[in-house]
Amino acid sequence: MKPAANSAPKTFAVKSFGCQMNVYDGDRMSELMAAQGLTATDADTADLVVLNTCHIRERATEKVYSDIGRIRKHAMAKHGKTPMIAIAGCVAQAEGEEIVRRAKVDVVVGPQAYHNLPELVAKAARGESALDTGMPVEMKFGHLPARRRVPPSAFLTVQEGCDKFCTYCVVPYTRGAEVSRPWAHIIDEAKALVGAGAREITLLGQNVNAWEDDGRGLHDLIVALDRIEGLARIRYTTSHPNDMREGLIRAHAEVEKLMPFLHLPVQAGSDRILKAMNRSHTRDSYLRLLDGVRAVRPDIALSGDFIVGFPGETDADFAETLSLVDSVAYAQAFSFKYSPRPGTPAADMADQIPAEVMDERLQRLQAAINRDQEAFNQATVGRTCDLLLERKGKLPGQLIGKSPWLQSVHLVTDAVIGDLVEVEIVSAGANSVAGVERVSIAA
Ligand code: 5AD
Ligand code: SF4
Repeated sequence: MKPAANSAPKTFAVKSFGCQMNVYDGDRMSELMAAQGLTATDADTADLVVLNTCHIRERATEKVYSDIGRIRKHAMAKHGKTPMIAIAGCVAQAEGEEIVRRAKVDVVVGPQAYHNLPELVAKAARGESALDTGMPVEMKFGHLPARRRVPPSAFLTVQEGCDKFCTYCVVPYTRGAEVSRPWAHIIDEAKALVGAGAREITLLGQNVNAWEDDGRGLHDLIVALDRIEGLARIRYTTSHPNDMREGLIRAHAEVEKLMPFLHLPVQAGSDRILKAMNRSHTRDSYLRLLDGVRAVRPDIALSGDFIVGFPGETDADFAETLSLVDSVAYAQAFSFKYSPRPGTPAADMADQIPAEVMDERLQRLQAAINRDQEAFNQATVGRTCDLLLERKGKLPGQLIGKSPWLQSVHLVTDAVIGDLVEVEIVSAGANSVAGVERVSIAA
């Protein structure tokens, strides 16, 4: 269908869903539209609303359609007209033309093509069809404007895509094959981020630890970032167990700015399920890997992702997931009910698990994870650490920052957002801890 002509938008809003890479992409799209002279505003009033979408689970995908309806309804009630709507991100990539048919949106742009957003918006304004779900080999990053203002903790995408093909996962289809950004581009962007106010950089990739350029791996990159003056902290996420090289493990002992935190998804504790998931690691190899990391960095905080109710998962399989959680004692972890995704091998597997079984397993798993998270937080009480202040708290004078172990720390302080302060952790809850300030570290 050919959309009706819109006038060229003057204001825009970008709403991102899903993973941190989408947050990064959303920020870059905002910078791109601002560089075209558009003014950022909120989604209720904007002439152009970009929904940067997630396809990882069915619920995330359906949310896009309900959001489109809600945005139009609000705008119509408030201003008597509806905005131009652009669907970006992984739903755009996976559904393509289907979203135009189903929701009559104006622009569809995939995660590897969003540098073309201004051109697509101009096309839509002329009433032309505006869809780009290409995956060019030449990466979009070269076409994006320079970083200007960023938060104290900033994201930097270094790697995208996935070649692992876990049988439940849409990422290899929505984000494409594994591609690493070149070394020099990353270093330049890191310096620009620090120049624009970042004190912490989180390197992002769907398989961030698979990053490589000319024989250099992620640990070499981390060592290089460690030398950037003004940068205080380095993190990376998300890693795959099979790409966890010796050098990266060693970096956790040797690189001062690398924070003691590792997010390493395992998904399940049973070898039978791991095999059906095509994870290509075992329960034991995963646990040994964590032992290796803990050996060099005993205080490391561990995090993981879990799926419950993968097709064929028995009570005995699930018990192995619980026992793996018990033996790792994660500082935090994410857990999800299996969601069949169109086009993935697991969606066609026999023995799909009933919803109520999944609900019950998820509850039990989350209770175990919460228990461990609270115990981890409790164990940090009495520790002194530095805290990067990131946002305001609810109480007057209260700011919230992150500890090296990625805990949210509440603090009453005269310091400002972006400062690093030294705190003692004095009390702990399930989701956050409280600190009192020791001495200010020069900003
Ligand atoms: N169903 C449920 N959870 C999923 N994840 C990925 N695909 C699915 C799916 N089909 C989870 C995994 C992954 C995280 C980002 O989302 O745990 O690590
Ligand atoms: Fe969602 Fe995965 Fe796409 Fe991130 S990469 S937005 S988690 S589908």
